[in-house]
Amino acid sequence: MNPPAFRISELHDHVGAVATVRGWVTHIRSSGKVAFAVIRDGTGILQAVLVKAQVTPEVWSRFAELTTESSVSVTGEVKADARAPGGYEIAATDLTIIGASPLDYPIQPKEHGIDFLLDKRHLWLRSNRQRAIFVVRNEIEQSIHDFFYERGFLRVDTPILTAAIGERSGLFATEYFDEGNAYLAQTGQLYGEAAAAAFGKIYTFGPTFRAEKSKTRRHLTEFWMIEPEVAWNDSADNMRLQEDFVAYIVQRALARCSDALKVLERDTTKLQQVKAPFARIDYSEAITILEKKGSTTKWGEDLGAEDEALIVADHDKPVFVVNYPKAAKAFYMKENPADPRTVLCDDCLAPEGYGEIIGGSQREDDYDKLVRRIEEERLPMDAYDWYLDLRKYGTFTHAGFGLGLERTVAWICGLPHIREASAFPRMMTRLRP
Ligand code: 4AD
Ligand code: MG
Repeated sequence: MNPPAFRISELHDHVGAVATVRGWVTHIRSSGKVAFAVIRDGTGILQAVLVKAQVTPEVWSRFAELTTESSVSVTGEVKADARAPGGYEIAATDLTIIGASPLDYPIQPKEHGIDFLLDKRHLWLRSNRQRAIFVVRNEIEQSIHDFFYERGFLRVDTPILTAAIGERSGLFATEYFDEGNAYLAQTGQLYGEAAAAAFGKIYTFGPTFRAEKSKTRRHLTEFWMIEPEVAWNDSADNMRLQEDFVAYIVQRALARCSDALKVLERDTTKLQQVKAPFARIDYSEAITILEKKGSTTKWGEDLGAEDEALIVADHDKPVFVVNYPKAAKAFYMKENPADPRTVLCDDCLAPEGYGEIIGGSQREDDYDKLVRRIEEERLPMDAYDWYLDLRKYGTFTHAGFGLGLERTVAWICGLPHIREASAFPRMMTRLRP
């Protein structure tokens, strides 16, 4: 009978047993009498020890053929050993090479340029650091689902192929049978609004696309967005939901990903302070602060990345900048009754220079005002007929927001650039691998 096969993360329950582990070789060394191979299987690392006098000559000679990144199967007794990388050892009696790896494995233990690493992203993912990032991303995704599930939200999956609607920035187009062009969704929000009228509290969680010609450390052309939409919430309710949501995600990552955050050398002192409430800064007040700090941004313009960094520099937690001028924001945001030059919206800015992670707003629920905004923005009215129906048949106060997943992962992991937060990032100049 073959010994049972385990994942490395399961070995703590099998100390003393004979087991098989399969994985990839990361390090090899030998004294001539005792040989060591460190094996990675994605769940952990394990040291395999071969003693020449205790294995067959065939097994010993197979060790000599091992190269890093070869896939192998090792069998032997599992031992706990605090000195071993990963804390466990396998006293190997058998070793099989499943897939040899030639010596020209592209990623070597030396400094590689970022473009080279991105070209080899399919292999780069095997590194310890990349695994840590995706452990955190996975926890964030799960915590997002848990947050909304616990609060009675329905998840609604909105279409990726759409007629021309969404945010302002560039659209990716593709031919769609006899219907003309289809566009990749920039947001699920407008569908989310229809779903909120049907189901009350909903969220979307899906890929979104922007053909923006931005080569910055926070822009991807394909990114994942989480967009809750809540019937009867106003802008103030919307921000309370955002601060609870962001605090929940951060605290979950801290509680459950401490090992991964250590691998990433993340200083978590600032993250620990991410608890509600967050400061609310009126857009006009933000402009005054920025003027004092030497920014040239004028009232009426959207804030740039540098402006956002200047604003959050005074804070240890995320901050909301609220009620931007109409012209700086999307057509669907509700006019601010207290100052009709502005809209009831907020951007949530992450600290430590990460900037906007959320854009949110109360939605224009007045049919005529919404029609006027669509006209002013010169948007194709016929694409919005169904959206206007939501204001025609029982209009309702509602608000929602969009959290950018990769920006959030980059912030929580402390990554210098958003591209590492995506397994296979899509940027202006990158479509492969
Ligand atoms: O502020 P945005 O454009 O808002 C919307 O799309 C609304 N429909 C959301 C809503 O109210 N339901 O985008 C929301 C968030 C940003 O704050 C940012 O985190 C992320 O999406 N984002 C990007 N992330 C990576 N690359 C890009 N090019 C991004 N553009 C926006
Ligand atoms: Mg925005």
